[in-house]
Amino acid sequence: MNETHENSFVLHGSVIYSKNAKELCAFEDAYAVCINGISAGVFEKLPEAYRPLPVVETKGKLIMPGLVDLHIHAPQYSFRGTGMDMELLPWLNTYVFPEEAKYSDLSYAEKAYRLFTDDLRQGATARACIFATSHKEATLRLMEMLEESGLETFAGKVNMDRNVPDDYVEDTGESLKQTKEWLDAVNQAAFRRTRPILTPRFTPSCTRALMTGLAELAKEYGVPVQSHLSENPSEIEWVKKLEPDISCYADSYKQSGLMEKDIPCIMAHCVWSDDTETAMLKENNVLIAHSPESNINLCSGAAPMTKYLELGLKAGLASDVAGGSTSSMFSAIRAAIHASKLRFRLYEETVRPLTFAGAFYLATKGGGAFWGRAGSLEEGYLFDALIIDDMAIPTAREDLTVSERAERMVYLGDERQIKGKYVSGRRLF
Ligand code: GUN
Ligand code: FE
Repeated sequence: MNETHENSFVLHGSVIYSKNAKELCAFEDAYAVCINGISAGVFEKLPEAYRPLPVVETKGKLIMPGLVDLHIHAPQYSFRGTGMDMELLPWLNTYVFPEEAKYSDLSYAEKAYRLFTDDLRQGATARACIFATSHKEATLRLMEMLEESGLETFAGKVNMDRNVPDDYVEDTGESLKQTKEWLDAVNQAAFRRTRPILTPRFTPSCTRALMTGLAELAKEYGVPVQSHLSENPSEIEWVKKLEPDISCYADSYKQSGLMEKDIPCIMAHCVWSDDTETAMLKENNVLIAHSPESNINLCSGAAPMTKYLELGLKAGLASDVAGGSTSSMFSAIRAAIHASKLRFRLYEETVRPLTFAGAFYLATKGGGAFWGRAGSLEEGYLFDALIIDDMAIPTAREDLTVSERAERMVYLGDERQIKGKYVSGRRLF
């Protein structure tokens, strides 16, 4: 073992990661080994072979995987924490569309996206799937900034050709043309960690012709897809009226060719998916982006996450800024547990609430699956890690378990306790 690569090292501290949606693996005193940006595993005694590697001594600190935000709107970061007085559809018209329309102005976009990418870099998020706006130039600029940030991301130029104000709506053919040009420009830029993702906003703002055209681009360019699904009751009613021939909301994506087994696909929300839709999501390998705080703020509801997990659906967690007020994924874990408990008590006691282990899984390994093996410190996973000074949060107790320390961090902590961050083995700070 004579690795000299700069991305090979050992972190020494208290380590926690998810085994699965039910179990955490926690070690009071352990070594997390990174070889060329990939985890070689976590060991209580450092194996002989790894002794020559540099050891980053973080004894007494908590080491956990970097968190994964599966759904966030970069241009909505500017008005986060405001405008929580409406449900989804009026909220889009009142706050979202007017703000996003401003991103035709590249200097405004640069200023706003700088704040967004700085925030994401400094926080607990290691990986994210991001909606931009319909503007090609501003989206490319966002992707350049994301590349500089060191984060691993997918970002998408938004498509929408109906039911959007005149100053923001796109013509169908022009939307497809701009998307093709954007994909070509991204290929040209040859980013290392910033990838394109096709982003039809949601069925109410995309015609079948647009979605069918995007499905062709998904196949031609080999790019994944992200959108919104079954978020709010009034949205779902509207989709039924707009698309009378569908069996469920997801079927509008399915019939367009956007929801296929071999096209990686993220659908945000899935709060109200019925049995037909749930089966379709499973059948087509869709990754659900659970966005609990947004679902509360926009009076959308609370998704049955433990039911989805038990049925074998794939799911991760999301901030959905600015439906969610904050990009903090610690806050999103908290919100997921809170929402599931209220749902359980007030709505459906057959669907159990999320445990801490379940919510932590969604925020790490669950969402990390979109990158293959990410969101864990197990052997073979891309090495994303946070070094956290959780004991800076005062307590007289000296006998806290590592799981309790992680839970306390989620409930009481914030980004100030993050003392180090690695993404694919690269140290960001
Ligand atoms: N559905 C369509 N667009 C949006 C959006 O920007 N945010 C949320 N939460 N839902 C949407
Ligand atoms: Fe969203």
